Amino acid sequence: MPKKTVLIVYSGGLDTSVCIPMMREDYGFDHVVTVTVDVGLPAGELKQAEEKAKLLGTEHYSIDAREEFVTDYIFPAIKANGDYQGYPISTSIARPLIAMKAVEVAKKLNVDAFCHGCTGKGNDQFRFEFVMRTFMPDTPIIAPMREHTMTRTWEIEYAQKKGIPIGQSINKIWSIDENLWGRSIEGGLLEEPNYAPPEEIFTWTKSWKNAKSTPTEVTIEFANGVPVAIDGVKMSPLDLILKAHEIAGDNGVGRVDIMEDRMIGLKVRENYECPAARIIIPAHKALEDLVCTTEERAFKVLVDQKWGELAYEGLWFDPFKDDLEAFINQIQPRVTGAVTLRLFKGSCQVIGRASKYALYNEDLASFDSKTFDQSEAVGIVKTHGMQARMYRTVKDK
Ligand code: ARG
Repeated sequence: MPKKTVLIVYSGGLDTSVCIPMMREDYGFDHVVTVTVDVGLPAGELKQAEEKAKLLGTEHYSIDAREEFVTDYIFPAIKANGDYQGYPISTSIARPLIAMKAVEVAKKLNVDAFCHGCTGKGNDQFRFEFVMRTFMPDTPIIAPMREHTMTRTWEIEYAQKKGIPIGQSINKIWSIDENLWGRSIEGGLLEEPNYAPPEEIFTWTKSWKNAKSTPTEVTIEFANGVPVAIDGVKMSPLDLILKAHEIAGDNGVGRVDIMEDRMIGLKVRENYECPAARIIIPAHKALEDLVCTTEERAFKVLVDQKWGELAYEGLWFDPFKDDLEAFINQIQPRVTGAVTLRLFKGSCQVIGRASKYALYNEDLASFDSKTFDQSEAVGIVKTHGMQARMYRTVKDK
């Protein structure tokens, strides 16, 4: 009989580690492949995942997808001012890439099934499975955490029985997902919407107390809608994101606390840290405000909102996303120039913007200018609100 192979989308955490012996003992696979995709894992976690996989005897693949994540996922998100309900979408845009990399390995090895560690309550099951089903429609997908309700205590005991190193799992109170664009912290006491997030959940952003005591002015330069330099220093896409992250974090910029409506309808409380996103997106938006026409600005808000919803739902390969991006990308070549921000103890203010494509003419707009013949406004003003005025005279007839 040919060996039956399952591929686990492996983070190295407790849930996906528990899946390894389970796949062998309860689901009857004799070969387990694990794939860990690095889209900005916390320091040391990739190595830990590799070591655990080795110990548990899987055929393991580590994939460094950080550059690709920045250029093919974060950059489109910047162009679309990527946001869902106040959350600079980050976990959501990483999932399609992780799934894509898993699919690449799965195709090469011709695996018989996928396994992931998502529960039935969250969004990630939708995001992973959409990609898997799009590219390998006949390969079954197993989600043990969705099939059986396993408590953390049960998982820890099971792991100990199966010789899985549990590391810090026992002390972990928060459920954290981290990538280059954002860090999400949920669970425990944070589930209560009225509970103020404790300082200990934040690792990327300083509290207002510890943030720099003087304002920082930072200039971000954009070319074709994406950031290319900070304070005049050109950087690679990855380095630029890391630099923005550091500058914003030092100033306490990037904390988000929102109520989020999940895809299956659950309303949940979410905390995020997204320092780089919280300075780059406002800067990008400020530049768009300078170079776009009134109609373009109004319409782009709607397009961005739809793009954000699709991205949140992990529908990365939906043709509607391409349609929206056709509009977004048409504008981006003009989104070239520089924006200066002032960061201070958690706040981020745009204080300057410049572009050779600016639809602004100081000579026309200035209070002192004589170029614009103001008498020409008289006629236009007279017709303003004509129908509304007419309504007043007819409404009580
Ligand atoms: N609610 C967010 C989303 O669906 C983030 C979830 C991240 N997961 C976590 N365990 N913190 O995009």
